[in-house]
Amino acid sequence: MTSPDSVLLSPIDSYANRVWMAPLTRSRSSMPGNVPNELMATYYEQRASSGLIIAEATPISPMAHGYYATPGIHSDEQVAGWKLVTDRVHSKGGKIFLQLWHVGRVSHSVLLPDNQQPVSSTDVISQSKTYIDHSMERHDNTPPRALETDEIPGIVQEFVDATHRAKAAGFDGVEIHGANSYLLDQFTRDGVNNRTDQYGGSLENRLRFPLMVAKAVVETWGDPSGVGYRISPLSEHKDVRDSDPEATFSALARGLGELKLEYLHAVETWDRSELDPRVEQVIPAIVKSFKDAGGKHYIGNGDYSPEQAESAIDSGWCDAVAFGRPWIPNPDLPARIANDGPYRTPTPETFYGGGPEGYTEFAPLEEASTN
Ligand SMILES: Cc1cc2nc3c(=O)[nH]c(=O)nc-3n(C[C@H](O)[C@H](O)[C@H](O)COP(=O)(O)O)c2cc1C
Repeated sequence: MTSPDSVLLSPIDSYANRVWMAPLTRSRSSMPGNVPNELMATYYEQRASSGLIIAEATPISPMAHGYYATPGIHSDEQVAGWKLVTDRVHSKGGKIFLQLWHVGRVSHSVLLPDNQQPVSSTDVISQSKTYIDHSMERHDNTPPRALETDEIPGIVQEFVDATHRAKAAGFDGVEIHGANSYLLDQFTRDGVNNRTDQYGGSLENRLRFPLMVAKAVVETWGDPSGVGYRISPLSEHKDVRDSDPEATFSALARGLGELKLEYLHAVETWDRSELDPRVEQVIPAIVKSFKDAGGKHYIGNGDYSPEQAESAIDSGWCDAVAFGRPWIPNPDLPARIANDGPYRTPTPETFYGGGPEGYTEFAPLEEASTN
C-alpha cells in the first residue's frame, strides 16, 4: 500500500490531492456543432476523484478548430453541453478547469468556416496531419496565412469571450493552451514566428500576444486563482522549435508569474526513457522565474509513474503532477495509487473518436477486483 502520508495523495490548497488529470482530446463531441454531450459528462464524472481535472483542449472560436469532433466553447449549445459535464463532476465533489485552445496553423480548411485557410504567426505550413471526419483518416494540414497585425486584438477577444462562456458553463477555472505547437506556441517560439511587426522578432515581441491573452483571461475570470497556463518548452512536435527554450520560457513564466497565475503546467516529455537532458536545467529555471515573480504552483507532466510523481513532489521539483494516459483506462486513479494498483494499460486505437469503448467502459477498483 502507498504510505498513508503520501504527498501525492495529500491535499494542496482547495484541491483534494495532487493527482491531476492532464487535458486529453478524445473527439467524442456531438456533430455537427462540436457539442459536449452525456457520454462526455459520464467520462468526466468517472474521473472526479482527481485533485483537478483539466478538461480537453477546447476551441475558443470557429476558426480555432483543427481536429474533427473536438468540443468547442463558442456557442450557447456548447455552453449547455459543458454545463452537463461540470454539474456531474461537481456532484461527485470534483473540480474542473477548461483548456482554452486555438490551433493556429495545425488545421485543415475543411474544418473552418467557409473553408478558410488556417491562421498563424506565419504562412509556413505545419508539417503535421489531422483528421477531418469520423473516418479519423489523417490529412496534411492546409497552408496557413499569417495574421495581420490588426487581427491580433480580435483573437484576444475570442479568448475573453471563451472565458466568459467557461464561467457560464460552471468551470472552476481555465487553462490557457500555450503548449504543443498551437497558436500561442506559434507566436512564442522563434523557430516558427518569422514576423517583423510588434508580435515577432525580439523575445519581448514574441511574448506580447501570449501575455496579452493571459492578462485578458485573468481580468475576465476576475481572479488569477482560476487561471493556469500550459507550455511544452522542449517539445519539437509539429516542427515548432526555439533557439533558446530556457530564455524564452523563463521570460514567459516571469510574465505569467507577475499576473499571479494559479499554476504553470509543463509537458516535460512524453517518454521518460528518452528524457531530453536539458529538462533538468530548463524546467527549474522556468519554475524559479514563475514563482519569484508571484506565480503559485508548478504542475509537472509527462510519462510519470506514481512513484516518480511522489518523489518529484517530495523533492520540490513540482507541486502536483498531471497524469494523462494513465487516467484513460483507470478512472479512479487516486484510489489505485493508494492501493498500489492494479493499473490498466491504455489502448491508443480508442484515444480519438468513437463511443464508449475505450472511454467510459472501465470499471472502478471494487468492481475491477472481481473481473
Ligand atoms: C489521447 C491524448 C490526447 C491529448 N490531448 C491533449 C490536449 O487536448 N491538450 C493538451 O495540452 N495535451 C494533450 N495531450 C497531451 C497530454 O496532456 C500529456 O501531456 C501527454 O499524454 C504526456 O503525459 P502522460 O505521459 O501522463 O500521458 C494529449 C495526449 C493524448 C495521449
